[in-house]
Amino acid sequence: MKLFTVLTVTAAFGTLALACGRPTSNSQVKVTAALSTTFTGKCANCHGAAGEGDTGPSLNAVDYATFSTKVRNGGRGMPKFAADVYPDAEAKSDFTALTGKAAQ
Ligand code: HEC
Repeated sequence: MKLFTVLTVTAAFGTLALACGRPTSNSQVKVTAALSTTFTGKCANCHGAAGEGDTGPSLNAVDYATFSTKVRNGGRGMPKFAADVYPDAEAKSDFTALTGKAAQ
């Protein structure tokens, strides 16, 4: 009974931390919190919630030249996204969130 209480409290705190977007020890959760709503709405269905890969490849180790070119041009199952749909600033911050590298 006591153990159950401890587990419940731990689970509740974990949910609260997630809801606040606070980083946790799980790096994938941290990545997801920093991604744009464009990524969540238009990319995650093919590339995974944290860009870990699904029907589309993982985006966690790509370089920025490849990232920006592929986003704008698409090809081989990847749709293209114009700057009015997915602005450069959003693409850059998503790139950094996905890879941990600065966009350049
Ligand atoms: C309908 C599914 C789909 C959606 C939606 C989609 N992609 Fe892709 N993406 C793919 C596929 C499939 C590939 C592999 C294409 C290839 O082999 O050339 C790909 C490739 C990529 C690559 C190149 C990866 C590499 O290592 O060469 C990047 C970067 C990328 N996508 C980013 C995005 C972003 C950012 C979005 C949202 C704005 C997005 N994708 C939306 C399917 C998708």
